[in-house]
Amino acid sequence: MDTILLDSSGNGLQRAAELIRNGSVVGIPTETVYGLGADACNEAAVRAIFAAKGRPADNPLIVHLPDFSQVTRYTESVPELAYRLAERFCPGPLTMVLPKNSRIPYVTSGGLDTVGIRVPSHPAMHRIIELSGTVIAAPSANRSGYPSPTSAEHVMRDMNGKIAAVVDGGQSELGVESTVISFDNDSTVRILRPGCVTREMLLDICPEVIIDRAILNELAEGEKAASPGMKYKHYSPKADIIMVEASAVAFAGFAAEHGGDGIYFLIFSGDEGNFPCRCLTYGKDSTEQAHLLFERLRELDDIGAERVYVRAPEKDGVGLAVYNRLIRAAGFEVIRI
Ligand code: TXA
Ligand code: MG
Repeated sequence: MDTILLDSSGNGLQRAAELIRNGSVVGIPTETVYGLGADACNEAAVRAIFAAKGRPADNPLIVHLPDFSQVTRYTESVPELAYRLAERFCPGPLTMVLPKNSRIPYVTSGGLDTVGIRVPSHPAMHRIIELSGTVIAAPSANRSGYPSPTSAEHVMRDMNGKIAAVVDGGQSELGVESTVISFDNDSTVRILRPGCVTREMLLDICPEVIIDRAILNELAEGEKAASPGMKYKHYSPKADIIMVEASAVAFAGFAAEHGGDGIYFLIFSGDEGNFPCRCLTYGKDSTEQAHLLFERLRELDDIGAERVYVRAPEKDGVGLAVYNRLIRAAGFEVIRI
């Protein structure tokens, strides 16, 4: 199959929507990361997403709606709290796990009775959903286990020959995937995956916000995952990633002792001045780090890094999302200095 590159002009978006309507898989831009989109209600099309990614069948896909008011078409029930969250955060990088109805096939939900619902804000993506006349199931457009793509070029590299087309909507604005939440009860939400809608932002609206243990801790043998995605190794480039919690000065000292062939250091922007070893920077604050992280992980593979020590980000705000991706890429290996 030849994968065509479409631009985000009217014609490109029309063509993408047409392909999706006809059951094809298309790489599509969103404000978080690029997705692999197909008609969420078409089982064969959804199977083709799993095949292109090499994704385990029990890992559910997020369903993207043009507008939150459509939620009742695809779900059994919606808590009042979900509507209040939608008022603030939809469209945007928030996915809510809700009980699905029969319009969403089990292939899409990975066999679960729930479905993740998101209303993306990227204008091209919004237009594609509208033009397709359906709702779009889309996981991140990387091959399974690899860092998520934040540009059309990343998607092409992972998916060329495996999908019908990729829509170029520019560099992803946020750079990490959406915040995924479920509802424990009428007043409590549980964060299953942290993202740019932070715990602090959710607390503006929700009386209680729980950070699921699996966000920062490896699942114990036999422990049930609140979200299937928690079970799998993720976000890993070919290089070995090792996280180091340290101040800028302590990290430079650590580098001086641990540098060598094939070894790189991923540091905060602004700390490169007297850094003793080969390094790349990934931003000076959590928002920049979220924006750049996946691109840098891919770049490190391109330059042939074999081992990468990363200076760990802060764990609050958007930093929790960055920390979560890194600790999974590192297989939960963290050095604390
Ligand atoms: O920003 C995003 O969310 C991107 C863009 C394309 O929208 N999508 C994305 O999809 O990151 P994916 O499939 O790579 O990650 C979705 C995560 C997985 O870890 C999955 O296990 C979890 O959300 N998830 C999806 N549906 C769920 C459900 N019904 N219950 C629990 N977890 C769910
Ligand atoms: Mg993913």
